[in-house]
Amino acid sequence: MNPADKNPKRTRFICLCNSVPQDVIEAAIARGCNTLSKVFDATTAGVGPCGGSCQPVLRRMLDSYLANGEFPENPNPQSSRKSRRR
Ligand code: FES
Repeated sequence: MNPADKNPKRTRFICLCNSVPQDVIEAAIARGCNTLSKVFDATTAGVGPCGGSCQPVLRRMLDSYLANGEFPENPNPQSSRKSRRR
C-alpha cells in the first residue's frame, strides 16, 4: 500500500511551487495566521513562481477554519482527480 493512501492528508502538497504540504499550512492557520498574507509569510505557500495558483485552495482552508474550526478533508479535490487518472 502506498503510504499516501494510508494518510493522504500528511503527504498532500498544496503549494507545488514551494513544496508546502497541507499539514504545514494547517499548522500555520491553527497558530493564528488568519489572513492569506499571514499564511504566505509563515509558509511561503501561495507566493511561488506560478503566480499563486494554489491561493484558492489556501483560501478554502482558511475560510473553513475561520468559519468552523475545521479544515476540509481534501481542500483541493482537483488534485485527487488528476492523480486517480494515472
Ligand atoms: S503552487 Fe503555490 S504558488 Fe505556485
